[in-house]
Amino acid sequence: MSANKESWGSRIGLVLAMAGNAVGLGNFLRFPVQAIQNGGGAFIIPYLVCFLLMGLPLLMVEWSIGRYGGKFGHHSTPFIMDAMNKQPFWKYIGVFGIFTNLAVAAYYCYLESWTLAYIYHSLVGTFHNKDSGQVAAFFSDYVNVNSTTTSIPYEAIWFWLLCLGLNTYFLSRGLKGGVEKVAKVAMPLLIMFGIFLAIQAITIKAGENGAINNGTAGLNFLWTPDFSSIWSPKVWLAAAGQIFFTLSVGMGSIQCYASYLKSKDDIALNSMSAGWMNEFVEVVLGSSILIPISVGYLGIDTVVEMTKNGGLGLGFRTLPYLFEQWGPLLAALSGTFWFGLLFFAGITSSLAMGTPFVGFLQDEFNWNREQAAWMFGLAILLLGLPTVLFFQYGVFDEYDFWAGTFSLVFFAFAEIVLFAWVFGMEKGWEEINAGADIKIPYIYKYIIKYITPILLGVVFFSSLPDVWRQVTNQTLYQQLAQAQLSQDQAKIDFLEKSIAFVNASRLLLLATFVGIAALVAVAYRKRKKSKLNH
Ligand code: PHE
Repeated sequence: MSANKESWGSRIGLVLAMAGNAVGLGNFLRFPVQAIQNGGGAFIIPYLVCFLLMGLPLLMVEWSIGRYGGKFGHHSTPFIMDAMNKQPFWKYIGVFGIFTNLAVAAYYCYLESWTLAYIYHSLVGTFHNKDSGQVAAFFSDYVNVNSTTTSIPYEAIWFWLLCLGLNTYFLSRGLKGGVEKVAKVAMPLLIMFGIFLAIQAITIKAGENGAINNGTAGLNFLWTPDFSSIWSPKVWLAAAGQIFFTLSVGMGSIQCYASYLKSKDDIALNSMSAGWMNEFVEVVLGSSILIPISVGYLGIDTVVEMTKNGGLGLGFRTLPYLFEQWGPLLAALSGTFWFGLLFFAGITSSLAMGTPFVGFLQDEFNWNREQAAWMFGLAILLLGLPTVLFFQYGVFDEYDFWAGTFSLVFFAFAEIVLFAWVFGMEKGWEEINAGADIKIPYIYKYIIKYITPILLGVVFFSSLPDVWRQVTNQTLYQQLAQAQLSQDQAKIDFLEKSIAFVNASRLLLLATFVGIAALVAVAYRKRKKSKLNH
């Protein structure tokens, strides 16, 4: 039926590709900032609890769901879920597993493309002899795509197109020839670059090269427990959100990668290897670069202030300037390593986001992988364009909220209910353990059946007030009211535009979801017809 007969080339390739899927920009830019914003040492406890009670169980479940669907020749969640239960409703829940990947890829690839530009600028020495304000201004200029004052006019667009081209090309080479090869090169280099930068960061000495703190001050600051916030629901939500994002669970991309396993392949050891590798990169390397360097040169108060606007500012506006304190050669090297590391982390994740859509087109419409990869490139181009052009109006953040946060929790909740309660935990536990090379503690059977769904339910329902705040644009309207009070016309215009763009991007995301659901309906009907004809 399907012409899609791809598979993984080797076990090490599979584990590296899965680890590459998980290790992403989230590990280096999102994690340290989340940790600081949520109390440093107080964050790590909820974070680890969420890893053990939601992250690990979901990894096992998603790998099992994927391998199970693969037995029937399905490589995308609508039809994988349909194979698990015939209620038509699950197919449409499965739409999330394609939609989320497309929508996250749409803004993620833009971010990934900045790293390419910054590798280039680190190499050619753009940041030499610039003061901190000028380096920061370079970034604002860069993301203002209309700007022709960047060294290349419309620079952000060119690098974005290059990045989309690279993604499309590697996807068109297939799993063995593309995704796996990239992971085998990118993952070891990423870890080497990370270790180099972490050593540089931790050995910063107060008083040398203008540093005001030792590099270790940043680590102490990050990991000194502050238990006052440990019972705050906000901290728990942030920890759960980070676990989802960093492990790539609730997306559909793990299921898709796992669907290319053979039915006897191990999932217990493989899923744990990829998951723990991600945690090493996140907790050890992710903590040891951005924060120690920034705290070393800028001091804790400034860094706390800066993290209020997320990690992008620190990573792109500030680090290139701080690298310059090490002299031109080390600056070029460190800049190339930092943005190179981010690029490798990014591309191995965005390739994972491309695979479900590509697999869907191959399975259901008999497209070959080149056609399907080009279609993915085109879809990301169209869906990503608003995030590029209207970045400053908050479109990027809007995508991140719906696709990168809300959908993950919702989909994870739905799939664990399907796995543990509809498909059934007895069958489910057998699936997890079939072909297993390690013994998973028996207690996980109960964790998956009871604890994980309950926790997920709690996270989901307690995030609903936030969702409502987002839907009604409360923050924007509050800012607007303030601007009107102070009669700041420029601000009023900006906020009114932001509200319009945010609403429009939400409609676009909705239309994308409905579009994919319609494709799933067409594919389903096609399948039924061809069954009748046989
Ligand atoms: N886990 C990736 C990161 O940490 C993001 C990602 C999400 C990748 C979903 C693939 C699918 O950046």
